[in-house]
Amino acid sequence: MAPTRTRRVRLAVASGAAMAVLAPIAWFWQDSLLPDAYSAMEHGYADTGGGHAVHSGHGRDVTTLTADPGRPADVSVRLTARRERFRLASGRAVDGYTLNGTSPGPTIRATVGQLVEVRLANENVADGVTLHWHGVDVPNAADGVAGVTQDAVAAGREHTYRFVADRAGTFWYHSHQVSHEQVAKGLFGALLVDPAPSAAADVDVVALTHLYPGARTIGGREGDVPVEAAPGARARVRIVNTDNGPTQAWVAGAEFRVVAIDGADVNAPTPVRDLAVPVTSGGRADLAVTMPADGAPVRIHIGGPTGIVLGQRTHTITPLPRPAATLDPLGYGSPAPLGFDPTAATRRFRYDIGRRPGFLDGRPGYWWTVNGHAYPDLPMFTVAEGDVVRMRISNHSGEVHPMHLHGHHFVVLARDGKPATGSPWWVDSLNVADGEEYDVAFVADNPGIWMDHCHNLPHAAEGLVVHLTYVNVTTPFRIGGTAANEPE
Ligand code: C2O
Ligand code: CU
Repeated sequence: MAPTRTRRVRLAVASGAAMAVLAPIAWFWQDSLLPDAYSAMEHGYADTGGGHAVHSGHGRDVTTLTADPGRPADVSVRLTARRERFRLASGRAVDGYTLNGTSPGPTIRATVGQLVEVRLANENVADGVTLHWHGVDVPNAADGVAGVTQDAVAAGREHTYRFVADRAGTFWYHSHQVSHEQVAKGLFGALLVDPAPSAAADVDVVALTHLYPGARTIGGREGDVPVEAAPGARARVRIVNTDNGPTQAWVAGAEFRVVAIDGADVNAPTPVRDLAVPVTSGGRADLAVTMPADGAPVRIHIGGPTGIVLGQRTHTITPLPRPAATLDPLGYGSPAPLGFDPTAATRRFRYDIGRRPGFLDGRPGYWWTVNGHAYPDLPMFTVAEGDVVRMRISNHSGEVHPMHLHGHHFVVLARDGKPATGSPWWVDSLNVADGEEYDVAFVADNPGIWMDHCHNLPHAAEGLVVHLTYVNVTTPFRIGGTAANEPE
């Protein structure tokens, strides 16, 4: 039966209205689709922060930004990545990834100034792997970001990383290929750089915290980790947060000092007690304690009732509830020269994190934004070597973001307008809570193309990734493509 005239009109109006709604949605959907292969340099838009983006003609390829190729290695390590079912120290079986058969992978140890060379072999990880040296300001070619500084290392292939360990401190390494999955499932380890004349502690412990499927661990062990420490011994416990969310550490049985944050010594750290120390995702905090003379044990709580228990005669010490007050690095320790003048900034950027509904590569969702733009249409912070850079990082996205800049450390100048009054607070990973605003600064002294992303790695995979790029630096690598590079 033919529709009546009124029905026809109604139909036309209804489909017109549907088109008016659907056409723009279809356009946004279509517009969000990512090409099969693209350069990190192609998408987004240059943000020069008020400075010049002078291109002098010839570019420098990221692969040329290396450590001295003629210099022999002081520390040589070979790491083989495998996908396998393995056992944690606690005996629990985990389906994930190992390096040389273990997760965490081997701790790499070097002395400041040494050249570290790591040969990474991928035995059977189908997606490919890389290694990123989190917190080490490596030359760009060694940064390990798939699709930006190298191709993912396919199964059966190898890749060599070379860099000088230029500052003493606590660092870690992890895959930067499909990192939200590979890191969670075990592709990471610790990298420790010792100071030159060994001001070593009597007891030195790394505490890599990690949540494997169903298992909260410290260095791959579940529950308390007992460590021998004699009365009066000086102990250093290096907490490395390898998870996606922030954690806290606190100490029972002794006062303590926070002697380093993110591989940078704190100047004149004072002894404290009854304070919890925040450690953001990707971040490190080195705590120092002197063991009580009477032989009583000390418990370093990490994230909960368990942790590292230092002692000799006994390792029995009752857990202490987390102190309500937290140590604020903004006012901890004493001021010291920064080595540059942040008031003489030559570039100023804002990194303003929000969230809005839309499409990401065709997927509808509630996606992160930076300065009002969503991935891949994000700012590319463009600098020249020697620039003094200031950045205001603010967050009104409803969730916390641990912001990590590759290749540089930055110093926190202020939080919510309140200036820093303590030791210079150098970080590579900064916890930016919802509603917070940080002013930070650094010197652009390491040419390359550097990720500046959220270290809650699923957030990075959801597009919370921008790049800091130096004028004239180019990359031959592509996200996607035949190497299937997928850094997040
Ligand atoms: Cu620890 Cu880009 O990461
Ligand atoms: Cu985030």
